[in-house]
Amino acid sequence: RSIVRRTSTTGAYLTRRGFASESAPDRKVAILGAAGGIGQPLSLLMKLNPLVSQLSLYDIAGTPGVAADVSHINTRSQVSGFAGDEQLGQALEGADVVIIPAGVPRKPGMTRDDLFNINAGIVKSLCTAIAKYCPHALVNMISNPVNSTVPIAAEVFKKAGTYDEKRLFGVTTLDVVRAKTFYAGKAKVNVADVIVPVVGGHAGITILPLFSQATPKANLGDEEIEALTKRTQDGGTEVVEAKAGKGSATLSMAYAGAIFADACLKGLNGVPDVVECSFVQSTVTDLPFFASKVRLGKNGVEEVLGLGPLSDFEKQGLEALKPELKSSIEKGIKFANDN
Ligand code: NAD
Ligand code: LMR
Repeated sequence: RSIVRRTSTTGAYLTRRGFASESAPDRKVAILGAAGGIGQPLSLLMKLNPLVSQLSLYDIAGTPGVAADVSHINTRSQVSGFAGDEQLGQALEGADVVIIPAGVPRKPGMTRDDLFNINAGIVKSLCTAIAKYCPHALVNMISNPVNSTVPIAAEVFKKAGTYDEKRLFGVTTLDVVRAKTFYAGKAKVNVADVIVPVVGGHAGITILPLFSQATPKANLGDEEIEALTKRTQDGGTEVVEAKAGKGSATLSMAYAGAIFADACLKGLNGVPDVVECSFVQSTVTDLPFFASKVRLGKNGVEEVLGLGPLSDFEKQGLEALKPELKSSIEKGIKFANDN
């Protein structure tokens, strides 16, 4: 089954009205950072997902208002808002999927790594609570720098004795969403039909779209492929600059986060052949974490898929990204072990 069909199924719940899927199993989804720029539209999109029975919205403040607002939408899930450290346990208890968009976003001139000093600590404390209150949940890490926050989460879970590499995901879906949009524009094909894997990591040159594998096929020249690659790698910066100090991608990220969480829920529910790209523990390269296509199942990652055939340009991109990705991973591991 193709990604196209899954994506259009995901889109369908956004337009479906009223209750649906009474037969779907109960699933609790918790969003940490739910009152933020990503958190609010992501809360809305998860409220529209009929696979969710309980939606738990957590932030340091502001979540009672977001929860009251979203809870009036006439879809399946019961919504609760939790605020402050003392309510984090309740927010997490029994969660099947935890989505983490908590942390500060970039301003113009910053790299994602510039967010490390603040976000590493936030991610560490939230993951410590996940290990305590919902150690079996699938964790969808959105907080940047993803190339470091995922290794931090892994180390925290290892220390707590709860690490399961099948249950930890760095969310790189926005890179795929962008690659599809930009490719469709250049190739003049229907965007809803486009499939493009994006591998590597989630920062600058570590984002490696594999346009040689894009379908529908198009006759694009080397320069066009290089420009599409660069635009995908710089997609986040394009938004940061356009927002001019008011943050980074929130709406497109909420859409991407909702697609990835939906894929996790489908996998948990036993839907076959659910495949999305994600930054996971991996043996696809010599790096311990790497983004590639992943088959999702009842326990999270069912299979990490290989890269497939690469063009010479992509082979060069792969070699070029490894040192940066390696050092971001090591920085995350070191932080978790030193603090
Ligand atoms: P934002 O500032 O609008 O919202 C962040 C929210 O996190 C705030 O409501 C804040 O109160 C909350 N928060 C801070 N500390 C917390 C804690 N300890 N517990 C719970 N909540 C806490 O920022 P945003 O635009 O929503 O971006 C959030 C993060 O997502 C940033 O790190 C950003 O770089 C990242 N991001 C990642 C991707 C991706 O593709 N993975 C895309 C866009 C943004
Ligand atoms: C993105 O890709 O939009 C996010 O990682 C946010 C950012 O800082 O670019």
